[in-house]
Amino acid sequence: MASSPPLHLPLLLLLLPILLLFSGAAPTASSSHLLYNEKLTHLHFFFHEIYGGPNASTITVVNPPNTTSYTALGSIGVGENYLREGAELGSKLLGRAHELAVAASLGTPTAYLSLFNFFFTAGEYNGSSISIFGRAVLTEVMDRAIIGGSGKFRMARGYTLSKLVNRTVAGDVIFLVVEYDAYIYHMDD
Ligand SMILES: *[C@@H]1O[C@H](CO)[C@@H](O)[C@H](O)[C@H]1NC(C)=O
Ligand SMILES: *[C@@H]1O[C@H](CO)[C@@H](O)[C@H](O)[C@H]1NC(C)=O
Ligand SMILES: *[C@@H]1O[C@H](CO)[C@@H](O)[C@H](O)[C@H]1NC(C)=O
Ligand SMILES: *[C@@H]1O[C@H](CO)[C@@H](O)[C@H](O)[C@H]1NC(C)=O
Repeated sequence: MASSPPLHLPLLLLLLPILLLFSGAAPTASSSHLLYNEKLTHLHFFFHEIYGGPNASTITVVNPPNTTSYTALGSIGVGENYLREGAELGSKLLGRAHELAVAASLGTPTAYLSLFNFFFTAGEYNGSSISIFGRAVLTEVMDRAIIGGSGKFRMARGYTLSKLVNRTVAGDVIFLVVEYDAYIYHMDD
């Protein structure tokens, strides 16, 4: 195996005037490949979803042929769900979880192909968002990628670990609570 090449030369030449401007000294070859400082933020919160009934936060928008089952291959759901501080229904609202989920498995348990944008509306991260993509199986600990972000979370990458902590069925209404830990590497401002 060849060893990794030294610092990318055109990039270094491009950066040279900037480095000189800010440091007033010659740059060293040990500088980072990143053009910005990164920081790691850990967030812990709860995702609340209501399916069915007058207060539904997620609806099925596409049914596969001959079935209305939301677990059948090809069923597509769209939602604006809630991000809250705690697992209880009335817990403090932290943001909204815009969701697109496709039931995408031939067997059981159902695996969803999920795409989320978590938009925070409270506290330090009000107005910032993270985008999450990956496989979701509600009976397992879900490990999904953070593929980007906005506001304070610009240039975000990382992962979320989440698990279902409450599933309550009342008539045609299903209430789901998923506990989230998000580990986000992002631009430090
Ligand atoms: C829907 O939400 C309203 C307002 O929060 C509440 O009064 C009502 O009980 C809810 N209905 C159901 C079926 O949960
Ligand atoms: C749907 O049901 C109809 C009538 O039973 C049947 O002819 C058709 O093949 C079914 N389609 C699929 C995709 O299963
Ligand atoms: C969040 O930001 C919006 C837009 O700047 C502002 O209107 C709102 O009051 C803020 N909410 C909180 C809880 O700080
Ligand atoms: C699950 O949610 C329901 C409806 O809010 C609540 O009554 C119940 O206590 C919750 N269960 C747990 C284990 O948190």
